[in-house]
Amino acid sequence: MSNPSILILAGDGIGPEVMGQVTRIIDWFGHKRGLTFDVSEDLVGGAAYDAHGTPLHDDTMAKAQEVDAVLLGAVGGPKYDDLDFSVKPERGLLRLRKEMDLFANLRPAQCFDALADFSSLKKDVVAGLDIMIVRELTSGIYFGEPRGIIEEGNERVGINTQRYTESEIDRVARSAFELARRRGNKVCSMEKANVMESGILWREIVQKVHDEDYPDVELSHMYADAGVMQLCRWPKQFDVIVTDNLFGDLLSDAAAMLTGSLGMLPSASLGAPMANGRPKALYEPVHGSAPDIAGQNKANPIACILSFAMALRYSFDKGDEADRIEKAVENVLANGVRTADLMPSAGETPATTRDMGDAVLAELDKTL
Ligand code: IPM
Ligand code: MG
Repeated sequence: MSNPSILILAGDGIGPEVMGQVTRIIDWFGHKRGLTFDVSEDLVGGAAYDAHGTPLHDDTMAKAQEVDAVLLGAVGGPKYDDLDFSVKPERGLLRLRKEMDLFANLRPAQCFDALADFSSLKKDVVAGLDIMIVRELTSGIYFGEPRGIIEEGNERVGINTQRYTESEIDRVARSAFELARRRGNKVCSMEKANVMESGILWREIVQKVHDEDYPDVELSHMYADAGVMQLCRWPKQFDVIVTDNLFGDLLSDAAAMLTGSLGMLPSASLGAPMANGRPKALYEPVHGSAPDIAGQNKANPIACILSFAMALRYSFDKGDEADRIEKAVENVLANGVRTADLMPSAGETPATTRDMGDAVLAELDKTL
């Protein structure tokens, strides 16, 4: 059998730096664990625009459809702010999500003990936090039609459309219930059924899927605004949160900050199973391209490293190897290794991106 394949799209800003550390970890698994991947690399976002005039070349899109998993760094940067909307770096990422039909975006927010002090919330509110946001990723207001900026009378109007079909809600709800069964067995669904018809339908379908096929899972519903408030008040009340594309975007940034740093959080975007049984999949850190620190060897590579761990778990059925990475990261943090985003104490020199990679590799070696 041939090796499983990975396409790396490092992208823009800090993407290439943090991905550089992931490449070292992939190599480690090849040398030390006999887990060899066929890795190829290509461009996305501004990097692809610079080379091809498009944020995602058709050939790259085709490759992404063929591989077992895509690892993405980050897209975007101020250099591209004035580009036409249709070729902005973000469009490359959105096209991957849409054409691969990656409808279930898993965004775990876990607070490592060693970092509980870095959260802007009190330590007892976040210590031991382990929640999973399942964000719908291929529909809703991100993709709904009509959209655009039109002339109306003597002024312009900006239009976007929130739109969800029953089947789109059904499938992401199933992903959330399946995940919950393997965790704390609780799902909280968030929408704005008080003001949006799409929210009314969302609530109805999630409840129906629950009643028909997942009655054993505890289900609750919350308006998304109250959800954000509860997430800040007492996040440990949640296990799995399932929500739409836009609310999920907001909620996952808020959840990320609970854990102390956006530089820590990985994500998996999963679609339907391919012919080989593996889901269509793209893994990426939740953080963006951080142009202000790009190219300075300062960025925290942990979110990207943990995204590779998610790939091992969800694409390659190697949950124990994913645990190995997660444990290594936990140890590194417990040992006090801190990149600049983790606010090392005054007078301490922060670890560089590469130092953090070294530290994780050293901990991985210790597990052998
Ligand atoms: C995210 C990001 C993206 C989004 C951007 C970069 C298009 O914020 O993955 O959360 O809005 O989905
Ligand atoms: Mg976001």
